[in-house]
Amino acid sequence: MIEFNCKNLICPICGEPLIQSSGSLVCSGRHTYDIARQGYVNLLPVQQKHSLAPGDTPQMLASRRAFLNEGHYTPILNDVAAAIQKYSGRVGTIADIGCGEGYYTSELAQRYPKATIIGADISKAAVRMACSRGRSISWITATASHLPIAERSVDVITAMFSLVCEEEFARVLQNGGIVVEVTAGTNHLIELKRIIYDDVFEQHKHPKKPQGFLKETGCELRSFKLMLDNTQLINLLQMTPHTLRIRPENRARLETASELELTAEYFIRILGKN
Ligand SMILES: C[S@@+](CC[C@H](N)C(=O)[O-])C[C@H]1O[C@@H](n2cnc3c(N)ncnc32)[C@H](O)[C@@H]1O
Repeated sequence: MIEFNCKNLICPICGEPLIQSSGSLVCSGRHTYDIARQGYVNLLPVQQKHSLAPGDTPQMLASRRAFLNEGHYTPILNDVAAAIQKYSGRVGTIADIGCGEGYYTSELAQRYPKATIIGADISKAAVRMACSRGRSISWITATASHLPIAERSVDVITAMFSLVCEEEFARVLQNGGIVVEVTAGTNHLIELKRIIYDDVFEQHKHPKKPQGFLKETGCELRSFKLMLDNTQLINLLQMTPHTLRIRPENRARLETASELELTAEYFIRILGKN
């Protein structure tokens, strides 16, 4: 039987705590959620699902895994770990929301082996793939706007290039808990965008001001350079939505590029409960 850590998880239908009963998680209202053989639990009821297969395609996920496994974004991971160290007094539970194929989730689990780690994503394909990164993590399919996580139970939420739902994040955060949000800066992968698009309209990007449930306690714009060979460039293209928009002639240009130096630029922002 797969042992699943359901600490802090609640039923997405009635909000009651979930406990494991053989191969399922159950609540006192008798709602039952099977633990898939890969080791995740689907806590996304149909009424919270807005499309049949939400999220990245399997091709995008495979490319993301190949790219991240090579460590190109380790500086981002290190910044997140440093922010947790600096801003969070306690690290008993970390929830990585929009965890994708689980790179950052599992790296944080290695750095915090005693913590309860939850990896949640709306995409079943992503969570299924994430399971292979470690059984000690509570992998769930769930939406960021309706988290099956108990009130005031999480010390750190990470949102890595994914959605922040302020009111919901504030609900599940402990008093004193933090959200570490990473979003792309204006010049993020700008050299790649110049190949993909005929005209790059450089929109000035900045994270949106919190609406009142959370407050900003720190925000930094960080950057570093990456030198990528052709295979790495194609993986990077294919892990982003640009892959769905690129014109065939521009893709052909990219496929013949031998190597390219790229800028990674991102905001790392810390949000606390208001
Ligand atoms: C750009 S990817 C980032 C994945 C991962 N954090 C990383 O950096 O490798 C954004 C992720 O957010 C997920 N996502 C999109 N909308 C979501 C929602 N409403 N709730 C939870 N996850 C969501 C997608 O399925 C996708 O895996």
